[in-house]
Amino acid sequence: MKTKVIYKRKRNKQIFVKEGIISTLAYQPAINKIYNMDCIEGMKKIPNNSIDLIITDPPYGLNKNDVRNDTDLSLFYNVMPECDRVLKKHSFFITFFSTKFLPQLFKDNPFNYFWQIVLYCPEGRVRSPIGYTKYMSCFIFKKGNPKIIRWNKDIFIDTPGKMVEPDEGYIDHPTPKPKHFIKEILKMFSNENDLILDPFIGSGSTAVACLQLNRRFIGFEIEEKYYKLALGRIQKALGSVIKESGNGNLK
Ligand SMILES: C[S@@+](CC[C@H](N)C(=O)[O-])C[C@H]1O[C@@H](n2cnc3c(N)ncnc32)[C@H](O)[C@@H]1O
Repeated sequence: MKTKVIYKRKRNKQIFVKEGIISTLAYQPAINKIYNMDCIEGMKKIPNNSIDLIITDPPYGLNKNDVRNDTDLSLFYNVMPECDRVLKKHSFFITFFSTKFLPQLFKDNPFNYFWQIVLYCPEGRVRSPIGYTKYMSCFIFKKGNPKIIRWNKDIFIDTPGKMVEPDEGYIDHPTPKPKHFIKEILKMFSNENDLILDPFIGSGSTAVACLQLNRRFIGFEIEEKYYKLALGRIQKALGSVIKESGNGNLK
């Protein structure tokens, strides 16, 4: 498929997003891009020890409608060795996970457990296949001995309505994660310009959070409809980052 390349300038650096469907990856993944493909295949093109931080939200066996590979944890176990390979020597691996399968998160895990950060929603609740929950948890693992960039609290409070992103409207994905929570985590565990990988980018929240905090990103999404949704959000975020930074010259 033909692709149209839009070049946008941001704080004197040139970053780009390609429009169109990329079904194969015959080269090393470019930075600040998401790919419509299986992350296991895509990650094979990422060099060893090249990623500063992984933050992700994998399918974790809840049989959620419309989430591919969510019937068991086999994909999660397959992706972990690749995550270990591509992460730099001293870095963090951060993942959302289900309480239903919590013990399995620690089984065959190449990383060491470090911390847990929670988004608590006292006025809301989400019905999941295992019952109601009022919080979502992010589990922080480490490879080697990385340093926290900026200490912060480990419980964040939210009062979500039906929309996780009030500034964007309804996000048409079964499990979108709020970008403001991802941004808090990025600020704690990464520096500006760090390269962040999300193998399961879904609606694109990690990519949008990275753009807004001046981090670089690579993401994969197997479903074309979610890939397109993420691409749209990235392009909108790119527009607003440029507007806010005052360097809105489009080529
Ligand atoms: C839990 S959702 C991620 C949601 C995301 N955090 C967000 O904020 O929208 C997991 C995503 O992984 C995608 N997925 C499933 N198997 C995949 C694979 N092998 N490679 C890449 N993406 C995959 C699903 O389509 C789904 O969108």
